[in-house]
Amino acid sequence: MPRFNPLLDNLATYPAVRLEELKAEVIASGKKLYDFSVGDPKEPTPSFVREALVGAVSDRCPYPTVAGRQGVRDAISAYYKRRFGVELDPATQIIPTAGSKEAVFHTPLLVIDPAASDKLVIAPDPGYPAYQRGALFAGGEFHAHILTGDYLFRPWELPEDLLRRCRMMWLNSPHNPSGAVSPLEHLERSVALAQEYDFLLINDETYADVYHTDPPHSLLQAGLDNVLVLHSLSKRSGMTGHRSGFLAGDPALIARLKRFRANPGCVPQDFVNAAAEVAWADDAHVAERRAAFGAKRQLFLDFFEEIGVDVVASEATIYLWLKAPDGMDDQDYAAALLDQGIVVSPGRIYGVAGGGIGYVRLALVPDMDQCREAIAHWRAQCT
Ligand SMILES: Cc1ncc(COP(=O)(O)O)c(C=O)c1O
Repeated sequence: MPRFNPLLDNLATYPAVRLEELKAEVIASGKKLYDFSVGDPKEPTPSFVREALVGAVSDRCPYPTVAGRQGVRDAISAYYKRRFGVELDPATQIIPTAGSKEAVFHTPLLVIDPAASDKLVIAPDPGYPAYQRGALFAGGEFHAHILTGDYLFRPWELPEDLLRRCRMMWLNSPHNPSGAVSPLEHLERSVALAQEYDFLLINDETYADVYHTDPPHSLLQAGLDNVLVLHSLSKRSGMTGHRSGFLAGDPALIARLKRFRANPGCVPQDFVNAAAEVAWADDAHVAERRAAFGAKRQLFLDFFEEIGVDVVASEATIYLWLKAPDGMDDQDYAAALLDQGIVVSPGRIYGVAGGGIGYVRLALVPDMDQCREAIAHWRAQCT
């Protein structure tokens, strides 16, 4: 046997993989499943996006470039101006990525020096699991900052010692799993901190367009130096399988990222970039998707009010963050629901230092009819 990287054995099974295993057990027992676990909504990809992709598959698909097609960068730049009022130079401030997960995983490799004493990556806990994994595989140290209450990350409350050793900090507004959205003032304070302590500050803005009331701000509205943002078409445009997103921000960082990203070769295909170009250029389908998620959300908010389950944060994203009722443990609550065929994620699977305990995440992914059916089934179990 070859000798392996021990990190893989030291990390728990990736949460989404573990959930799939648990679901398979319930399906094998013959129960009908109402699946609110994995964040992969069932609404179809818009037909104009699919047509653009198919139309761009040529008789020979040459290697795509790290910089990506000019067209997609122009479309992203125009989107940023429309949505956030921020000008981005398509040549020096934008890099298309193969979804956002690979960029979450790869970006620490840009700044982490495994031999240095300051090799800390800081991220919210609970949080998207790849923040920790990318930091550790890059040879960095990881500090999970536990969120509670309103689930807003306030980096200026971190101890001085951690800030001095910080090379990179993840913000995630809107936040998975809680749906909390940081106000602009919090983003501005975070940027000031990144500039004072000279670390890379990056906001994962995967859910920036999936909101229910006020449109969330971008970190790039708060400042540019030391700052990057990460976006994705997965939830905005129903393109989880296409693997399409982008990194944008400080041109000095983007220039280094271009050099770095030539190494892993994780570059979106040209035909995916052609689909991304039309998706970023259109806002109407995004509004339709928001309305669909909003209708499902309202259905559940009414239901949770009726049965006395508290919904916390949950202002944006496709998730509702529920406090496990009657002082129940999140794992026990999720297990009790799973037993009835309703799959939600125990909050602790998004934590590495104890974040998320006592809460469960419900992803608004089934269609409206299935949501209604699931609620009727759930209600019947409560009475
Ligand atoms: C906060 C966050 N970041 C990044 C991702 C990765 O998304 P994708 O790789 O599909 O763009 C997800 C997926 O659920 C997420 O929740």
